[in-house]
Amino acid sequence: MPTAGALIDQPRVGKSQARCRPMQQSDLEAVVKVHQAAFPGFFLTRMGRPFLRAYYQAVLDFGASIALIATDENTGAVLGFAVGFRDPQGFYALFAHRRRRLLPAIALAVLRDPTLVKEILRNMRRVEAQARASVDAVELSSIAVAASGAGVGGVLLAAFATHARDGGARSLFLTTDADGNDAVRHFYERRGFTLDGHEDRGDRRLCRYVRTLG
Ligand SMILES: CC(C)(COP(=O)(O)OP(=O)(O)OC[C@H]1O[C@@H](n2cnc3c(N)ncnc32)[C@H](O)[C@@H]1OP(=O)(O)O)[C@@H](O)C(=O)NCCC(=O)NCCS
Repeated sequence: MPTAGALIDQPRVGKSQARCRPMQQSDLEAVVKVHQAAFPGFFLTRMGRPFLRAYYQAVLDFGASIALIATDENTGAVLGFAVGFRDPQGFYALFAHRRRRLLPAIALAVLRDPTLVKEILRNMRRVEAQARASVDAVELSSIAVAASGAGVGGVLLAAFATHARDGGARSLFLTTDADGNDAVRHFYERRGFTLDGHEDRGDRRLCRYVRTLG
């Protein structure tokens, strides 16, 4: 992990430049906001702000995370983020361990939306399964931008790949929705990812993509 605040890249975004740097504690609120806007109706978003914040707090606390944000160099506004793990199973073990701490946030979410119970149970099983799995690659677990199509996502992805490679990883992997998600799949395919298979998660069918790091 580079030192906090170190410059990683300087893509152009409109007339100003976006800077890519490691995520810090003070970025959490902005990261949560970008996540909520970029992933409406998704599980983590539906779990509510406290849970989402706890998730990104765990990302920051976990020693083998790669957590980058892009900011506007003029305004300092957070333009997007990319988050993942050099040791995915280690992260999911940490997050499973924090479950007790997350109970109030989980209870609030269920009171607000009882239909979440099924998904929470499914996700608990998945987190436990991933914690046990042996994955020899860096997982890109979420990437999102405040405004699509300005080049920020591409730059974040490139910076993420550079960090992963510099840390010794040989490949990246991710999962994304198979259906109704052509633009995002195209985004990954144009950036060197190839389809490696599918997995079903409840009603969702996901594509698993991999990219070898040169
Ligand atoms: C996917 C995402 C991170 C891409 O970031 P971005 O800044 O829009 O990407 P760039 O501007 O660098 O590149 C645009 C490319 O993404 C694709 N794209 C995906 N979603 C897009 C959208 N909503 N608007 C415009 N372009 C989009 C375009 O097809 C374009 O492809 P090309 O340049 O290879 O031809 C961003 O659209 C986003 O945050 N989406 C919502 C969250 C999400 O679905 N994340 C991925 C979860 S697996």
